[in-house]
Amino acid sequence: MTKTYGPEYVRAIAPYQAGKPIAEVAREFGLDEASIVKLASNENPFGVPESAKQAMAAAMAELGRYPDANGFDLKGALAARYDVPTDWITLGNGSNDILEIAAHAFVERGQSVVYSQYSFAVYALATQGVGAQHIIVPAQHYGHDLPAMLAAIRDDTRLVFIANPNNPTGTFIPAAEIEAFLAKVPAHVVVVLDEAYNEYLSPEDQFESAAWVKKYPNLLVSRTFSKAYGLAGLRVGFAIAQPAVTDLMNRIRQPFNVNSLAQAAAIAALNDKAFLARGAANNKEGYQQMVAAFDKLGLEYVPSHGNFVLVKVGDDAGAGARINLSLLKQGVIVRPVGGYGLPEWLRISIGLPEENEAFIEALTKALAE
Ligand SMILES: Cc1ncc(COP(=O)(O)O)c(C=O)c1O
Repeated sequence: MTKTYGPEYVRAIAPYQAGKPIAEVAREFGLDEASIVKLASNENPFGVPESAKQAMAAAMAELGRYPDANGFDLKGALAARYDVPTDWITLGNGSNDILEIAAHAFVERGQSVVYSQYSFAVYALATQGVGAQHIIVPAQHYGHDLPAMLAAIRDDTRLVFIANPNNPTGTFIPAAEIEAFLAKVPAHVVVVLDEAYNEYLSPEDQFESAAWVKKYPNLLVSRTFSKAYGLAGLRVGFAIAQPAVTDLMNRIRQPFNVNSLAQAAAIAALNDKAFLARGAANNKEGYQQMVAAFDKLGLEYVPSHGNFVLVKVGDDAGAGARINLSLLKQGVIVRPVGGYGLPEWLRISIGLPEENEAFIEALTKALAE
C-alpha cells in the first residue's frame, strides 16, 4: 500500500491552476515566445512602473540584509494614503498571503467559512488548508448574493470572503449593499473584503472602504500591488483592519514575508498616480474593444468592473477547453474557468490594444473552426 501523509483535508486540496507561462506555451506549441500574447492572469499590460524600477535599483545594495520585518516605510506610506494608524496594516506576500493568513488566524479546524459560488479560487484553498468547512452560497447573476451569504452564517462561522470586484466574473457590489451587510454580520465573524481590482473601478463606483474599517472592528480590507500597480511578480499585498485583527494576522505571518525590493517598489508605485491613470484609461478602452467584438460575434459576457472579462464561447461543456486549445495554438493565452464550474466560458485579461486585437482575431478563427 502506498504510504499517505498529512491530514485528509490537505490531501483533498485541488491545487490552484495558474495561467500558463509564456515560455511553457512556446515550448508546448512550438511558437516563438515574442509572438505570444498572454491575457491570462489579470496582469498590468504596461508591466512594472519606471518609478518602481528606480526604487528597486536603489534598494539592490541592501539585499545582503534581511528586509524590514515591520515594513516601516511601506506601512507608513499606506497609513498616510488610507488615513489609518500604521498598526492597522498587515503586509502580505501578495494579497494571496493575506487571505491565507486570515484563514489561519481566525478559523479552527471544523469551523466554517462562507464565500460565494464563482468567487476567487483561493477562498476555497485557504478554507481547505485549515481543515474548515466550506459554505458556498449560490451566486446571483454570477456575483455575490449578500443577503443569502448573511443568512448562511452559522454559529461556527468565523470568516466570510467577499471579492469586490469579483474574479473571475468581474461583478461589482455597490457600497450601500456592502455596508448593509457589514451592519448585520455577527461580531464573531471576520469579513475579508478582497478589493484586488479596486483601482480599476470607475470614479462613480469608488468608495473608501478603509473608512468602514474604523466603524466595523470585524472588517479586514485586502488590497494588492499585483494588478493596477503592475507588480505581480514581486508579490506585495496588504490588509487594513483594527489592531485586534491585525495583531493576530501579524502573529501568523512569516516575519520577512515581503522582500526588500518589493517594499521599495510598492512605495514608489503607490505614489505613481500617472501610471495608475494610464492603466485605468487603457483598461477602459480595452474593455470597450473586447465587448464590441463579443457583441459582433454574438457572444454573451458578464459586464466587468475589473481588468478582465468573462465571455461564453459556446453552449456545451467542452466549449471553453476547445476554444482555449485553439487560442493556445494561435499563441494566445487566456484563462479557462472550468474549475470554477464555468466550462462554457473563458476569462480574458484586458491587454494593450494590439494584444486585444490579436486575441479577437484568434477567437474569431477559433469559433469558425
Ligand atoms: C480577487 C483576487 N484576490 C486576490 C488575488 C491575489 O493576488 P495577489 O496575491 O497577486 O495579490 C487575486 C489574483 O488574481 C484576485 O483575483
